[in-house]
Amino acid sequence: MKIIFATNNAHKLQEVQQILGPAYELVIPRQCGVTEEIPEEQETLEGNALQKARYLYERTGLDCFADDTGLEVRALSGAPGVHSARYATQGHDFEANRQLLLRNLEGVTDRAARFRTAVALILDGREYLFEGEVRGEITTAPAGEGGFGYDPLFRPEGHEETFAQMSPEAKNSISHRGRAVAKLAAFLTEHGASYKTDR
Ligand code: IMP
Repeated sequence: MKIIFATNNAHKLQEVQQILGPAYELVIPRQCGVTEEIPEEQETLEGNALQKARYLYERTGLDCFADDTGLEVRALSGAPGVHSARYATQGHDFEANRQLLLRNLEGVTDRAARFRTAVALILDGREYLFEGEVRGEITTAPAGEGGFGYDPLFRPEGHEETFAQMSPEAKNSISHRGRAVAKLAAFLTEHGASYKTDR
């Protein structure tokens, strides 16, 4: 089954493809002629995921899904949250975001945090939402080379390693996105979804 996934992040594409498995072939917006940046201007993860999926559906008329993720840190009242991508700058600068997070948590002992992902699916014109989360804590220094974004600073509950120190399979099996996408996959399988590229 082919389905459009609203992302230009190669790393995320690979992660989600791995979670969904070979039964699904992910198509990215530019392969359907959508080359402009897809707007995400809402104040919630669910709102952004829906906005992106609706935009793609309006442009292509094809079944599609979009996700939005936020890192919510308890001692920062849930920040950076929906603003995780542009925490330090407007430019999706992972390194600057990590440094700002560490600075804002300097001397703070409560390091509790969670990643939360919302996935919006539009299937045959109907909208569905799925959610996934993983609890953990923010380390005091980065560790690990894998993953992306805040991965070197996030240690999931019950683990000694950060996400960036884990294999992709280990991260996907417990991650926010892994859990949300697993729900999406179960739904698609259950509904026997079919996608025709010539619609
Ligand atoms: P997005 O909505 O998936 O683009 O996520 C927003 C921001 O959250 C990204 O720019 C990353 O900084 C961060 N983020 C999302 N997913 C992950 C993850 O799996 N690990 C670490 N950081 C992530």
